[in-house]
Order: sequence, then C-alpha cells, then structure tokens
Amino acid sequence: IKRITTHTIREMKTRGEKIAMLTGYDFSMARALDDAGIDIILVGDSAANVMAGYETTVPITLEEMMMHASSVVRAAKRALVLVDLPFGTYQGDSSDALKAAVRVMKETGAHGLKVEGGIEIQETVQRIVNAGIPVMGHLGLTPQSIYKFGTYTVRAKEEAEAEKLKSDAKLLEEAGCFSIVLEKIPAKLATEVTNNLAIPTIGIGAGAGCDGQVLVIHDMLGLNKGFKPKFLRQYLNLYEEIGGAVSRYIKDVKSSDFPNENEQY
Ligand code: KIV
Ligand code: NA
Repeated sequence: IKRITTHTIREMKTRGEKIAMLTGYDFSMARALDDAGIDIILVGDSAANVMAGYETTVPITLEEMMMHASSVVRAAKRALVLVDLPFGTYQGDSSDALKAAVRVMKETGAHGLKVEGGIEIQETVQRIVNAGIPVMGHLGLTPQSIYKFGTYTVRAKEEAEAEKLKSDAKLLEEAGCFSIVLEKIPAKLATEVTNNLAIPTIGIGAGAGCDGQVLVIHDMLGLNKGFKPKFLRQYLNLYEEIGGAVSRYIKDVKSSDFPNENEQY
C-alpha cells in the first residue's frame, strides 16, 4: 500500500481531487477508516469532547493526545496521520511549541501536526515547519479559543473578521503550512480563501468550495448523541444501533439464551 503524504495532499488540489479527512482516536476505529480508504486521519483534540467527555477542547493534555496518536499510528497503513497540538502547548514561546511538536513526532510516529490560529502563531508555525515537521493550519471557529468567542456559532460573518481570516490564510501559507482547515465560516468566504491559496483547504461547516472535507467520526456515525448541527451529514445512527445491540445482549443473558451450546467449550 502506498502511503498518502503531505505532497499527495497538495497534489490532490492541483488535480482537483477532493480530500476526505475524518478524526480518529483509537486503534480499532482508525483501522476501519484506513481500510475504507480515508485520505487523512486527524487525531483531533475533539478527543476531549467525544472520548473524554469534556465540554471544551481546552483541558486535554499533550500526553493524552499522544496516547490517542500512537494508537492511530499503529492502525494506519495508508492514511496520513495528523495530530492536533492541544491548547497551551504552542500559544506561548515558539521554542516551547517546537519542543511539544518534536515530542509528538518522535514519540507517536505521526506524520504531521495541526494548530489553531493565524498571525498570532505565524512565527511558531514557521519554526515547526523549519524543523521539518508538516503543519496544517486551522482558521474560523477555532475551538481552543471558545472562551474568547463565547459561542460555537458561525465565524467571520462580519467584514473585519473575514478580512483577518483571508490575511491569516495567506500568512499560514507563507509560513509553510501544507493545508488549512476552515471551520464554520460562510461558504462564500471559504471558496474565496480556497481560490486564493495554492495549498488545499479542508472544510467543516465551510461549504462545498473547499478542497476537502472533515467530520468528527463520532458525529458522522451518529454516536455523539443529540449533536446535529446543520453542517453535519450523519451516515449511521450508531448510538441507536449500540442501544439495540446492548438491549438484546441483556435480554439474552437474563433469559439464559446466551451462551448457547455452540458458544461454550
Ligand atoms: O479536533 C477536531 O476534531 C478538529 C476537526 C473538526 C477539524 O480540529
Ligand atoms: Na481540533
């Protein structure tokens, strides 16, 4: 199997082939995504929400992210594996950020990193890229800044924020990012940004004009109970499926139907 690289991802934009990315946090799920042919598995800090049950992505630690990342790396034979640097590990001194970045690369075997923000982290992105580590940017609704935004609503609807986003996207490209996630911004703005960049954009709630799409795996499988924003296409209702299977199991155990003669030694 030929491994997808950051170069493959950039070439896909040139070819006009859409990029399919999903999040993954553990070995078994990552193996299923990889076998199904996903281009990129993002070990997102959304693990804080869907794996750990936190309300925001703020609390997850570098060590916790690295545990998820190692598990995914062990499963992915073809997919590019990217890891979110968690809140607090890269917003300050760029030399501290580089240390965190190097730890993730060395200790997990991941192929690249993702960081949130524009001009604020430009120097840090440059420094990490200069060290030979591929970096994906992330603009728009950047969940690590949720306490600054106050809500999870659509970003950059107003002129000033839209202008900053456009300029941030260019800065990230210049700093050496190989791709940028655009989260929850108007489709028109995302299309404009996409057309102004040589590197691919990956959208979530950012419309059809992006070069690729990403969803949180728990959301698209219908495992994240009650979460159904407009941008989400739900491909399964795994929460209900699991409920049904578990109810049948309970019934079978209680009624002594399980295990039967063929299910014992
Ligand atoms: O953590 C995450 O899942 C993400 C994607 C939604 C882009 O950053
Ligand atoms: Na994230």
